[in-house]
Amino acid sequence: MPIETDVLVIGCGIAGATAAWRLAQDRQRQVLVITRTADPTESNTRYAQGGIVGCGIGDSAQRLADDILAAGAGLSLPQAVHLLAQEGPALVQRLLIDELGVPFDRTPEGAIAYTSEGGHSIPRILHVGDATGRAIEEALITRLRALPNVTLRTSTTAVDLITSSHHSRDPLAVYRPITCHGAYALDRSTGNVQRILARATVLATGGLGRIYRYTTNPEGARGDGLAMAYRAGARVINAEYIQFHPTTLAIPGADNFLISEAVRGEGGRLYTPDGRHFMDHYAPHWGDLAPRDIVARAIHEEMITHGYPHVLLDLASHMDAARIRERFPTIYATCLRAGLDITKDPIPVVPAAHYFCGGILVDEWGRSTIEGLYAVGEVSCTGVHGANRLASTSLLEGLVWGYRAGSDIARRTDLHLVRASEIPPWQNVEHGIPADPVLIYRDQRSIQYVMWLYVGLARNTHRLARALRELSHLWETIDGFYRTTRITDELIGLRNMAQAAWVVTRAAWHNHQSRGTHYREDSRQEEFANLGNTKDSWDSPHGYANLEG
Ligand code: SIN
Repeated sequence: MPIETDVLVIGCGIAGATAAWRLAQDRQRQVLVITRTADPTESNTRYAQGGIVGCGIGDSAQRLADDILAAGAGLSLPQAVHLLAQEGPALVQRLLIDELGVPFDRTPEGAIAYTSEGGHSIPRILHVGDATGRAIEEALITRLRALPNVTLRTSTTAVDLITSSHHSRDPLAVYRPITCHGAYALDRSTGNVQRILARATVLATGGLGRIYRYTTNPEGARGDGLAMAYRAGARVINAEYIQFHPTTLAIPGADNFLISEAVRGEGGRLYTPDGRHFMDHYAPHWGDLAPRDIVARAIHEEMITHGYPHVLLDLASHMDAARIRERFPTIYATCLRAGLDITKDPIPVVPAAHYFCGGILVDEWGRSTIEGLYAVGEVSCTGVHGANRLASTSLLEGLVWGYRAGSDIARRTDLHLVRASEIPPWQNVEHGIPADPVLIYRDQRSIQYVMWLYVGLARNTHRLARALRELSHLWETIDGFYRTTRITDELIGLRNMAQAAWVVTRAAWHNHQSRGTHYREDSRQEEFANLGNTKDSWDSPHGYANLEG
């Protein structure tokens, strides 16, 4: 028998948890939240160090909007930006401070202590030391657990969205608009795939940093939601815009631990290993606090031109030791465990993949182009981030759109449960072989190296062409593997990684113009033409044809 619920929320970082919380205000409504991890606080949100944007002293919605638009490099959607700037800081106050009591850092006088980060014209970022996301996430999950009409199912991995056009037993359903009725989901403890039927489905699965070899993202950021929505036929946009965080730890054994932008917000400065300060050369107006795409490319440029293995981020000369330990306890402790005392020595840093600025196209209520399917947080594209996200706006966007999606679903009366008899149970691969961890590891690494080397911080036509060829080949192998192997969480993730990598690369291939985080070293038409006749063949192996059910 299928599971039936009013609303299915897939993922419980800040965006999914806020949507579920808002929906649960009506005690008659049943909300089912699923997450693939055993610990529901284990999400991208948990790893956000720097903070969440609020309203700084002397700040205004217009000023915040101007900063977001400037960072977005001309591709942010103005109405989405203004909505975020108008509603966001008030929601931080009402939901996070007044209702959840998140313990944001305060001044000795008891006022909120704001910090600055790259691209902000004023200090306006609220933080809980350098573990802001963890504090917010723990408060949200504690709240969800206390709500009687919210069911939190952990260790449950969504496999595919259920849509009438693809799964209905009624052949004429293909003529109706694509409508989402829930999802097939793997219970990781039993290995069974269940039908979960819902009036509305909210995708809140986070990003896809793990398709890159080097990333700040946790292991769940493998593009699951993006790939599922893409297979179901949702419109995905701006997928070429991958934000690289400029400063991640470059120490063997502790690679790519995030060194928050707040370190530069509090005075940290970037130097080459031979002691040259370089950011004023690349961004005279902003210096070390330029928007992320500029700082990441400047570091990349310095490393490539001079053969440096990393650059250095010096905080010790600008902040006293006791204050460093108090303000950045997680970074201090992590670096110390790796043998580096940041109160004395500069931090070796390199850029790494950090945030997906594109995603499933949604409107101001989080509605995707599929009826009954909402997307919130990093998996979605609201238009706010344009070609480059302004620091500390991601938690804010998750909060605002999570709340809005919940509000929209709550007032709708046109969302209905599909009849269980209309949707067939999941068809297991008969006599499937067990998933071989060596093959999964090898294929993951292949995808990650292709993306890192050919679809990274700096792209060009030849590299992208190579990436498309290699990803196409990998897809054939991985999809074949998927179809003959007993389903596991790792196998689902691998297939989604392959599909997400494809979506990103194809978008990068088609966009010849450098903008924000999408930087093309060459964009000459002739070269493109020489490699031409590729669009159709590159457009082939993904999408509807690969659906189960
Ligand atoms: C950071 O602390 O630098 C990350 C914050 C963000 O990605 O907005």
